[in-house]
Amino acid sequence: MNELDALVASARDDFSQAATPAELENAKARFLGKAGRITELMKGMAALSVEEKKSRGAAINLAKQAVEAALAERRQALAEAELQQQLRAEALDVTLPGRARGQGGLHPVSLTMERLEAIFGSMGFEIAQGPEIETDWFNFTALNTPEDHPARSMHDTFYVEGGSAKAPNLLRTHTSPVQVRHALQHVQQHRARLDAGEPMPEIRVIAPGRTYRVDSDATHSPMFHQCEGLWIGENVSFKDLKFLFTEFCRTFFEREDLVLRFRPSFFPFTEPSAEIDIQFQSGPLAGRWLEVAGSGQVHPAVVRNMGLDPEKHIGFAFGMGLDRFTMLRYGVNDLRLFFDGDVRFLSQFR
Ligand code: DAH
Repeated sequence: MNELDALVASARDDFSQAATPAELENAKARFLGKAGRITELMKGMAALSVEEKKSRGAAINLAKQAVEAALAERRQALAEAELQQQLRAEALDVTLPGRARGQGGLHPVSLTMERLEAIFGSMGFEIAQGPEIETDWFNFTALNTPEDHPARSMHDTFYVEGGSAKAPNLLRTHTSPVQVRHALQHVQQHRARLDAGEPMPEIRVIAPGRTYRVDSDATHSPMFHQCEGLWIGENVSFKDLKFLFTEFCRTFFEREDLVLRFRPSFFPFTEPSAEIDIQFQSGPLAGRWLEVAGSGQVHPAVVRNMGLDPEKHIGFAFGMGLDRFTMLRYGVNDLRLFFDGDVRFLSQFR
């Protein structure tokens, strides 16, 4: 092998050993750079005769072209390898199953509300809503709880701007104000009939929603849920309330043998008033009386505030704690679980 062939072979060898583009550029400099071996050979031609320059020059040029070709080939190979490596690193496995989006669900208390609306709806009750920021009048006064009435102290709440200095607006402490709000609307709607002395369609309504009190422990939360019920007609009695509420509880808890008891109590807006207790006949709570609602015959003063004649219109109201109903239905023992927002708890109700 002549000297030039050996040079080309050694360049090829060097280039193939270069593992990166940077190494390849260094190898290139050793042959084609300013002080490279090919360049040196060119310089060495200066001393040759014209004839010798011709043949020697052509031979060196061939060698130079061969080295350049080897360089280009290696560059291409390295670029190709780099591309392949990048493709491998960024490879997507399109056959992998997708990551499913977590499925949401209704909050257990919302489930209770929906259930309650469906059951009372099937018994001919409308669903009403009232504002959570309430006036002093609707929350207390209209419900026969005037200023300085001791029952107000059990309803310590959050006062907000609006209303008067003496009676500022507040976050409603119960859903009972919806009784009067809804009744007033109903009466207005049937004004003509009432004025003509004709019978008014009965008021049958429930009002579920958020309520507020300054209270916080394992069984009390500053925000909690209630559902109000109101049934007013010309001939509605406790017997109807007992039947209605028993049917509701049996359907809600899916227990045909559930029993109900009225325990005398006091509320300013009902007279007489009763606490409603229920008892399961089987299961972990069997035999215990569980308080689930307040109720009573709507007080004549409240009936009057509804725009109705208490001599003619009579009825009853009830108010129940929805969080309590939810706890009893699902066996939850700490109210705070409902409001902590822990997905491990909430996802069990999906
Ligand atoms: N509003 C009462 C409370 O939050 C509950 C209540 C009692 C509602 C008797 C009523 C009722 O409608 O008749 O303590």
